[in-house]
Amino acid sequence: MTDPKKYKELQYLDRNESQYGPTPKCYDFLKEVTIDELANYSRDFAKGIKSSLSKMIADEFKLPERQVILSYGSEDLLKQIIHYYLDRKEKILIPKEAWWYYKKVAYEVGGFNVEYPMTRGKENGVATFLYDVDKMIEIYDREKPRIVLIASPNNPTGNRISKDDLHRFLDACRGALVMIDEAYWGFGSVENDYVKPFLDEFPNLVICRTFSKYFALAGCRIGYAFAGKNLEELMNYTVRYLGYNRLSEKLAEIAYKDRDYYGKVTNLMQEDKEYFYKEFGKMKGFTPYKSYANFMLVDMPLEVRKDMNKFLKERNLLIKFLDEEAFKTEARITLGTREQNYYLMDSIKEFLGK
Ligand SMILES: Cc1ncc(COP(=O)(O)O)c(C=O)c1O
Repeated sequence: MTDPKKYKELQYLDRNESQYGPTPKCYDFLKEVTIDELANYSRDFAKGIKSSLSKMIADEFKLPERQVILSYGSEDLLKQIIHYYLDRKEKILIPKEAWWYYKKVAYEVGGFNVEYPMTRGKENGVATFLYDVDKMIEIYDREKPRIVLIASPNNPTGNRISKDDLHRFLDACRGALVMIDEAYWGFGSVENDYVKPFLDEFPNLVICRTFSKYFALAGCRIGYAFAGKNLEELMNYTVRYLGYNRLSEKLAEIAYKDRDYYGKVTNLMQEDKEYFYKEFGKMKGFTPYKSYANFMLVDMPLEVRKDMNKFLKERNLLIKFLDEEAFKTEARITLGTREQNYYLMDSIKEFLGK
């Protein structure tokens, strides 16, 4: 049992940030930063590339560098793509049970949303949300949106779409620009093999990723995306001729290469997820949802939510009690360090035992 006095400050388990932080190699680099990184623009453009970061990623994926886009976090990618392609009164198809920002962005340019619902089911005995591809295709055919958005793993539900389902859906949406938001890539799997074949087969596809989540660099605001061949205008639009944030680029490069460190963190998190499934599964009226991300959605009795929020805050624990239409009885817990996770679970048990 962790002594609550140990946590004198609020523990932020509410915004899907990493509590372990980036690889120690990032801190080593920061100790040796020179005037060059701080006072000068990047000279990568003169070398015929946008950035050594996008070049490194492109080489790994065997893609031309122009097909790898860099941005100020993946929030910025979503904004740039939607602002660039969505005209007034055009539609974007988004998941209903999803990150709140998807619902806002189309309105910034006078467009509007149509939504596809997910269904609730089970995966190997654990509750999960499921993508209903038949339904998604039916809505796509009816609404004819300009842009389609798929999030995998999805926030806040934590589920992901299978490669077969994704392929079937992409095949049905060839007339639209399709964005896959993979902000939570890495926690469920570090597979990358599908990226190039999908981009080759679906030239209007953009796969968006970030250094904020798996690589624990949310404060550096750097994201990246893979753009299909038809999206030449987007590739040009997103270029920054004076370069990108040089510290962020360098930190991202260092993080990207240290698979060992991030693999270990993910394994710890996976064990803690198993612990959460087990413990929440024993609590009356609680349902933990399968997570392929760094957070877990937990359904709980409505009457428990309000008082639990207060109780946890008094113990300096902040988790996200959702208030959207689709999630009236759920909370989303960002996985912390092992110690934070156990402290949270002990506190919830203490609250319920009161
Ligand atoms: C699903 C999803 N996509 C994108 C983002 C944006 O992250 P960032 O801008 O830090 O890359 C978030 C942030 O929480 C998110 O939950």
